[in-house]
Amino acid sequence: MTPQKYGYFDDNAREYVITRPDTPLPWLNYLGQDDFFGPITNCAGGYTFYRDAKLRRLTRYRYNDIPYDNNGRYLYVKDGDTVWNPSWKPVRTELDRYECRHGMGYSRFIAEKDGVEIEMLFFIPNEETVELWQTTVRNKSGVKKDLKLFSFLEFCFYEAQNDATNYQRTYSIGEVEVEDGVVYHKTEYRERRDHYTIFGCTRPVDGFDTCRDAFVGIHNGLHDPKVVLAGEAGNSIAHGWNPIGSHQLNLSLEPGAEEQFTFVLGYVVQGDENKFDAPLVMNKSKGKAVMAKYADNASVDAAFESVQERWAELLSNFQVKTPSKEINRMGNTWNQAQCMATFNLSRSASMFETGIGRGMGYRDSNQDLLGFVHLVPEKARQRVLDIAATQMSGGLCFHQYQPLTKKGNADIGGGFMDDHLWLILSTTAYIKETGDTSILDENIGYADQADDAKTGTLLEHLELSIRYCLENRGPHGLPLIGHADWNDCLNLNCFSTEANESFQLAGHGTNDKVAESLMIAGLFCYASDLFAELYNFMGKADDADRIRGNYDEMVSAVETHGWDGKWFLRAYDAFGNPVGSETNEEGKIYIESQGWCVMGGIGLEDGRAQQALDSVHEHLYYEHGCVLQQPPYTNYHVELGEVSSYPPGYKENAGVFCHNNPWIHLGLMKLGDGDRAYEYYLSVCPAAKEDSIDTYRGEPYVYSQMISGKDAPTPGEAKNAWLTGTAAWTFTTVSQGFCGVQPDYSGLKLDPCIPSDWPEFEVTRKFRGATYNIKVINPNGRNKGIQELKINGKPIEGTIIPFAEAGAVVTVEATL
Ligand code: BGC
Ligand code: NOJ
Repeated sequence: MTPQKYGYFDDNAREYVITRPDTPLPWLNYLGQDDFFGPITNCAGGYTFYRDAKLRRLTRYRYNDIPYDNNGRYLYVKDGDTVWNPSWKPVRTELDRYECRHGMGYSRFIAEKDGVEIEMLFFIPNEETVELWQTTVRNKSGVKKDLKLFSFLEFCFYEAQNDATNYQRTYSIGEVEVEDGVVYHKTEYRERRDHYTIFGCTRPVDGFDTCRDAFVGIHNGLHDPKVVLAGEAGNSIAHGWNPIGSHQLNLSLEPGAEEQFTFVLGYVVQGDENKFDAPLVMNKSKGKAVMAKYADNASVDAAFESVQERWAELLSNFQVKTPSKEINRMGNTWNQAQCMATFNLSRSASMFETGIGRGMGYRDSNQDLLGFVHLVPEKARQRVLDIAATQMSGGLCFHQYQPLTKKGNADIGGGFMDDHLWLILSTTAYIKETGDTSILDENIGYADQADDAKTGTLLEHLELSIRYCLENRGPHGLPLIGHADWNDCLNLNCFSTEANESFQLAGHGTNDKVAESLMIAGLFCYASDLFAELYNFMGKADDADRIRGNYDEMVSAVETHGWDGKWFLRAYDAFGNPVGSETNEEGKIYIESQGWCVMGGIGLEDGRAQQALDSVHEHLYYEHGCVLQQPPYTNYHVELGEVSSYPPGYKENAGVFCHNNPWIHLGLMKLGDGDRAYEYYLSVCPAAKEDSIDTYRGEPYVYSQMISGKDAPTPGEAKNAWLTGTAAWTFTTVSQGFCGVQPDYSGLKLDPCIPSDWPEFEVTRKFRGATYNIKVINPNGRNKGIQELKINGKPIEGTIIPFAEAGAVVTVEATL
């Protein structure tokens, strides 16, 4: 617990404690673990939504505001003439003490000003659609304090896109009711909505406001709202314009006294029955029941305890103790929390994703599952099926779907030729974790077949994915790239010259039967290897052999046409010219094909794998990670697309795109190089950035999508924290790579690859109901290769720990 400039890890509490509010960027956490979510910053900024940040947004947030992060869950304190917020913003009065503890599913603020201490705990109870703000006010001064408190949030009209753009309508639709101090936000409830929002307080209120103009004033801001300055709520009722929720509480606290109460923000589904008690008077019984449920503090405390218990239980499935504090604190806590967030939200709602742009990504969600199956396998099962159902009968997939409706969304483009292959990774990861092969027989149909005219089991979807890739190969026998592969910006068929066109939507070139991808080739090898292994396990040797044959064929195409001399090529463009080759002037070497070809098992025997990773070291690695390619593109290349659109060193143009770094780490471990893998791991690890945090700027507890590269004017700066595939892949690196704990069909496989100077490490892994306490010792300073394995004291052959019965606690000792 070494305090750094802006905060520190409290590992035992599983919290990151922020000790000053003016962090280099807003530092985010998430409330909620089921269907109800609230991104929350270290200044209490953010918003709340039910399932889908586009279609069911309850409170408003203005992205890219000045300053950043200006809307949120606020409490104003008026103590004499001083007005302040426990979250510092929006008033930004200097506090005598400020602490924000971001924890698992909650954020706690503790602030003090002039002897008044306020603690606010924000969380969402398990399985509920309620956000609670438990508030404790303490008079620590020696004098009596007469305080006026005002809560504040701004309602959103649910459909966030319309809410943010269509003011000719939205300024006239707002409606609220107030009863017993509880604000009922009922916009559009009279017509097609069967749901409404409540905002109440468990303590009797001394006033309220629901009209933003009345509370804030037309020319004031949230930093100086009229009502708060005056110390007198207006009891305003919003008619149109912008409905808000605010309560006034007058507290009179003797020295040493404290009061505790809770603000309740709830999403209530009424259904279509009994919506009104009288014309224009809504039936509030369900809203009242929510308020009643949390009326006393004990029920709020109990709900919070359940959230904590649930997280402790989830995280207990995988815990490590290694000589690396970075691996311990990321692997045990934050990396898993980030995996949960990416599972829940895919790429939809963060400080960088507005909730209206992208829903659940097909390739993204499949990869996210790799870091999630061990947490809640039942949810993983449903997710695999939901994703698979957005594949079309031809083989291509909707690139994205909306979480509320689970329907594919074509608005963000399509034709990505890698999408379908990721389904094999998620499905096999799920089966290895659970042993549940029945998922393969689930009939999920196809997204383009109305009323399931053509049905298809999950197994058939996997077959289709393989077949589609095989049937769509180009002149060199390599997979066609289509619109793009994993690298959304390698647009070899777009030829976009229209300034306002989205690269992701730009039309295809005249011939999309030429451009091929080595990244997809490597991914195909990796996926087909997994698929063949699955067939073997199912006792279908013929199918396994058939898929193995496809694998061999792809390997030989890569060997013949995919090797550039010192590394794997990245692609062939629409004219059949190589991309990612020594012969190119810029973009000579790319990262993705090095990672995937090695992970796919290509070049392990002939030295090419080693050579490719050596080239990565020589050309791509620097202190903040491996950049995506070198040299960066300095000009726009119409035949390459968006990849060449970014200034050198940013995003897909030679930024450190963290998501693909673990592929290199896993590749290195395949070759047994635990030392270099660990050095690389630290280079992108946020927990290792505290010393250079003013350069890094992002949250030191979660991965960012991108760190600017060595060619950037601002190298080492992180952007796009939280919602990135980096989470799942770095968790895979830690759990299955370094620690080598790999769920398998016949047991728990143990194959660690560690830095040679680790004398030992321990892992606790819960797997299929049993608990495995694993200790690995490394007396000879090795990287890899188990020499001896003992289960409950008895030596066994091989590296597979056999299944123990549910409830058993197994002691595993291994020597490298
Ligand atoms: C970004 C990619 C992203 C894509 C999808 C591009 O502008 O650079 O990282 O995947 O948009 O919308
Ligand atoms: C972010 C996207 O979410 C992901 O799907 C893509 O693979 C990467 N960007 C790389 O372009």
